[in-house]
Amino acid sequence: MDWFDAGRRRSRELFDSVVPAAYEVRPIPLRNPICFYEGHLPAFNANTLLKRGLGEEGIDRDYEVLFERGIDPEDESAVGLGASRWPPRKAIQAYGDASDRAIREALLEKDITRDDNPVLARGLAAYTILEHEPMHQETLRYMWHRLPYEKKIRPAETPSPVVNGGPPAREMVRVPAGKATLGADRASAVFGWDNEFPLCVVEVPEFRIDVHDRTNADFLEFVEAGGYEKSELWDDEGWEWIQSSRVRHPLFWERHGGEWSWRGMWELVPFPASWPVYASHSEAAAYARWKGLRLPTEAEYHRAAYGAPDRPERSYPWGEEPPDATRGNFDFASPDPMPVGSFPAGASAWGVHDLLGNGWEWTSTVFSGFPGFSPMPSYPVYSTDFFDGKHYVLKGGSPVTSKVLLRRSFRNWFRGNYPYLYATFRCVK
Ligand SMILES: [Fe+2]
Repeated sequence: MDWFDAGRRRSRELFDSVVPAAYEVRPIPLRNPICFYEGHLPAFNANTLLKRGLGEEGIDRDYEVLFERGIDPEDESAVGLGASRWPPRKAIQAYGDASDRAIREALLEKDITRDDNPVLARGLAAYTILEHEPMHQETLRYMWHRLPYEKKIRPAETPSPVVNGGPPAREMVRVPAGKATLGADRASAVFGWDNEFPLCVVEVPEFRIDVHDRTNADFLEFVEAGGYEKSELWDDEGWEWIQSSRVRHPLFWERHGGEWSWRGMWELVPFPASWPVYASHSEAAAYARWKGLRLPTEAEYHRAAYGAPDRPERSYPWGEEPPDATRGNFDFASPDPMPVGSFPAGASAWGVHDLLGNGWEWTSTVFSGFPGFSPMPSYPVYSTDFFDGKHYVLKGGSPVTSKVLLRRSFRNWFRGNYPYLYATFRCVK
């Protein structure tokens, strides 16, 4: 109940940080307008726990269809098929309140862990709605990021950006050959999304990996060397994207009065040379190619993050202790990135920094299920809609990734040319 209430409260705060005039705005062209998400969260809860799980009627059939699913279309022509006129905010909020009341009642009083029902077995539907909420909070945050500052209401206690000097010296460490355990064991995991199962053990050959994420300072060299004009550095999809969208630098960078700055969540920040560069997979891969390096595979990320010499793999890069504010920039600790290497207590056994938090890490691995994958009964299309060869796995977490999503097996995925999320990269060879 506390988890549910805290999640709903944070979502409400997010929707209240947008001015009313922006309510039906679509800050990212390929996503629904803001109002959709205020209806989607409670509708998803009703659809998943009340209807699919408990076999009940739900709260409002029309809303539970209208707000059922977000979208991830290939281009803008596929958007706009939703409602042409959204319900007024008061009505959406009233629906949300009714859904919240029904979910609270279900969590407190109904049989939500029935083993004879695959949707409810071991509390599957309840965990599904509890984790769905913070996942959306993150996507909402990077959507809000794109809104003009005058359309946002900055919370009073928001910390100021930390920009201190240049990045640490570039350095790579050797990670010896060994096993990486991806995924999780169905029988022992409390909860996981379908793409986290089953366990998948991979033998990883020796490699070298960046101690720190590539920074804005690093990426500036690529921009100034004409990296965006050299077609040989880009894959076909990436080249086509930067040509058609006239991309010449990372989305978070802006040019004002001849100087680069960084578009922060609440303010424009003087160019933060030591922050991890936020970039799309296409940009990350082009940069790596330019350096004669490459992006890590998902298994290499696991080796670098969770492997340890002569020991079993760890639950977190730093060991077994649960995540807290000393280990990394996550769980809404800061609205924007911090300089790389700010959390030595979060380093992995090999001394690799910031593997959890401060920005998701792109891998070169195309998103798919591990051998033995099966869709989850509580949300059967969660992953399968994206097994299309066009999405890449990201690992780690961002400043606004909830700490409940920082478990080892959690996987994120996006299209290679999607520039909006808080994602960075490091290189390997
Ligand atoms: Fe959703």
